Amino acid sequence: MAPLRVVITGGAGQIAYSLIPLIARGLVFGPDVKVHLRLLDIPPAANALAGVAMEVQDSLFSTALEGVLATTNDVEAFTGAQVAILLGGFPRRPGMERWDLIGKNAGIMKRMGELLETYASPNCKVVVVANPAQTNCYILSIYAPSLPRKNITSLSRLDHDRMIGMLLHEANSRLISASAANGTECVRRLTAADVRGACVWGNHSNSQVPDVSAVEFFVDGRWVPIESVIPDTTWLGLANSLPGGGSIGGGAEGQSLVEAVRKRGAAVLGARKLSSAMSAANAIAEHLSDWLSPEKSEHSPAVSMGVTTDGNPFGVSEGIFSSLPVRCTLGGDWNYDEGFSLNDDVRRHLEASVAELEDEKATALKMLEKAEAAAGSVTGLVPRPSL
Ligand code: NAI
Repeated sequence: MAPLRVVITGGAGQIAYSLIPLIARGLVFGPDVKVHLRLLDIPPAANALAGVAMEVQDSLFSTALEGVLATTNDVEAFTGAQVAILLGGFPRRPGMERWDLIGKNAGIMKRMGELLETYASPNCKVVVVANPAQTNCYILSIYAPSLPRKNITSLSRLDHDRMIGMLLHEANSRLISASAANGTECVRRLTAADVRGACVWGNHSNSQVPDVSAVEFFVDGRWVPIESVIPDTTWLGLANSLPGGGSIGGGAEGQSLVEAVRKRGAAVLGARKLSSAMSAANAIAEHLSDWLSPEKSEHSPAVSMGVTTDGNPFGVSEGIFSSLPVRCTLGGDWNYDEGFSLNDDVRRHLEASVAELEDEKATALKMLEKAEAAAGSVTGLVPRPSL
C-alpha cells in the first residue's frame, strides 16, 4: 500500500520535535501503516528544519516511516496530503494586540485552506493546533470549501488530558490515604482508562469549560460517581471556578480544578519558559490515533475535540468550531456524543466561551477583508452557509 502522506506545518518548531518520534515509531497511525512525512516551515526556519530532517535520519526509526521531505515549499508539502497537522502559526510578540494575532494567523490559515483545497487529497483529515485553533478551523473551512467540514478538527485533547491528569492525581491520593487509614497496604492506582464522562467545552482559551459533572471512576470493579472518590465539591464545582473559589488539587493553592486546568498552559510556560510541547505532542498523537488509527477499539471512549458546531445536539450556536464531546468511529469518522448534557453552570460558562469564539471569528474575517482590500483584491469573503 502507498504510504500515508502526512504534512506537518511548523516542522522546525518545538511541538513537531516531540511529535515526529511518536509518528515515526508507528504509535499514531498504527504499526502497520507506513507514513511519508512532509515537514513544512517558513524560509527563516529552513536550517533548523534541515537539522530536524538529519535527526530523523539518524534516529533509525521503525519501518513505519517510509520517508521524510523537509521543505519550505508549501505546494510541495501539501501535494497529495492525506493528513495535515497544522502547528505553524505566528507567535504572540510583546505589545501585540489579541486581534492583531488573530489577523496574522487568519492570513496563514487562509493560505493553508487554499493549499488543502487545491493540492491535498480531497478527503484529507486535518488537526489544527496553532492558535487560535478553533477560529483557525473556521478560516480553513472557508478557503477549503470542498473539504468536508467533519474533516477539519482542532486540538482540545490537551485541555481534556490536563483535566484527567489532575483528577487522577487527586483521586489516587485520596484512595491511597483511605487504604492506609484502613490498614490496607495495596491499592490499585487508577489510570486514564479508569475515568469516563469528562469533557472540555468551548474555546481553547481561558474561557474553556472543563466539565466533570458526568465523570465516573472505575474502582473495585465498578463505575462510581466522581463525588464518591473526590467528595470536595468546592474544588470540583464550576460555580467555584472564579479566583478565590475552591480548595487544592492539581493546581496552585486555593485554585479550583477548573481554574487549574484553564491556567495549566501558563503554569508550564512560567516554569519551563517555553510553552507545553511534550504534552501537546502526546495529545495530538492521541487525537489522531483515536480518530484515524485502524488499531483502535470499536467502542472508543468519548473525547473532547474541536469540531464544527453545525448540527450539534447541545444547543451550541452553529457556524463556528468549538470543543465538544465526540466519539470516533472506525473508518476515520466521528459523531457528537449525545450522552452528554449540559447543566446550568456548564451552559452559562459555555455561552461565554461561544461568545468569545464568535468574536474571534468576526475579528478574523474583518482582518482578512482588510488585508485583501490592502492587497487590491476586494472580492470579499462569502462564508459558506452552515451545513
Ligand atoms: P514554535 O514556535 O516552536 O513552532 C512554530 C513553528 O511554526 C516555527 O518553526 C515557525 O517557523 C513555523 N511557522 C510559522 N508560520 C508558518 C507558516 N506559515 N507555515 C509553516 N510553518 C510556519 O511553536 P510550538 O510550540 O511548536 O507551537 C505551535 C502552535 O501550537 C502555537 O501556535 C501554539 O500556540 C499552539 N499550541 C496549541 C495547543 C493546543 O492545545 N491547541 C497547545 C500548545 C501549543
